[in-house]
Amino acid sequence: MRKPFIIANWKMHKNIQESVEFIKQIRECLPQAGVEEVGIAAQAVALANMKQMVQGANLQIIAQNAASELVGPYTGEISVRCLADAGASYVMLGHLERRRLFHEDNETINQKVLTALATGLTPIICTDDKMVQAEINGEIHYIFDQLKGVFDGVAPDQLKKIVLSYEPSWAVGSSQTANPLVAQKGCSRIREMIAAVYGQRLADQVRILYGGSVNPQNIAAIMANPDVDGVLIGRASLQADHFLEMVNWQQ
Ligand code: G3P
Repeated sequence: MRKPFIIANWKMHKNIQESVEFIKQIRECLPQAGVEEVGIAAQAVALANMKQMVQGANLQIIAQNAASELVGPYTGEISVRCLADAGASYVMLGHLERRRLFHEDNETINQKVLTALATGLTPIICTDDKMVQAEINGEIHYIFDQLKGVFDGVAPDQLKKIVLSYEPSWAVGSSQTANPLVAQKGCSRIREMIAAVYGQRLADQVRILYGGSVNPQNIAAIMANPDVDGVLIGRASLQADHFLEMVNWQQ
């Protein structure tokens, strides 16, 4: 049974004080950890302050990116060691905006995945529609190579912990309402690809999230899909009451 995972991705929107205030507002209203996992991906400098505010609530603190190296002369980079020290339990890697705006490729993302795993941080590996779209057009090898590249050197028992996401580029930050069928199709394709490399048993254990224009109105329909195990929410997660509505989508 894959536990649902609802994640706010604040991108570069909230400062430290706003991040802390948000947690104060929501921490008493979060579902039990046995029912669902909830997390917030925030700017690295806010993570330690946020962690202090969690106070036992069911809320994971998530980093939005990390350096590919563990330590060394990389001015301006942030290591997974520091992110873990600050209280992060997960790190998002390869988000569409990282790939598109900062030119991260699969090789770099793979390096980051391995570095995160070595430190005990769990990667949330984001994929976009390039990977899935090409498969729909019949370019199956291209897709497998892309996914394999990201997972190179990841052992089967490490894969079980990893979280994946599917965010179609046209739905991210757009006014196009996310279509539950697209969400299901993308997530199930990724699961098939994982099964082809690691076997069906492992593929059935990996959580795959959908991201792109999720909001309080469409979350229940998206979550009703069998291969969608959670969501990554951008804009609609910035307001505490909206986020709580989505976190409590089962009620
Ligand atoms: O990671 C979530 C994000 O990319 C989706 O953004 O604003 O379309 O919900 P948004």
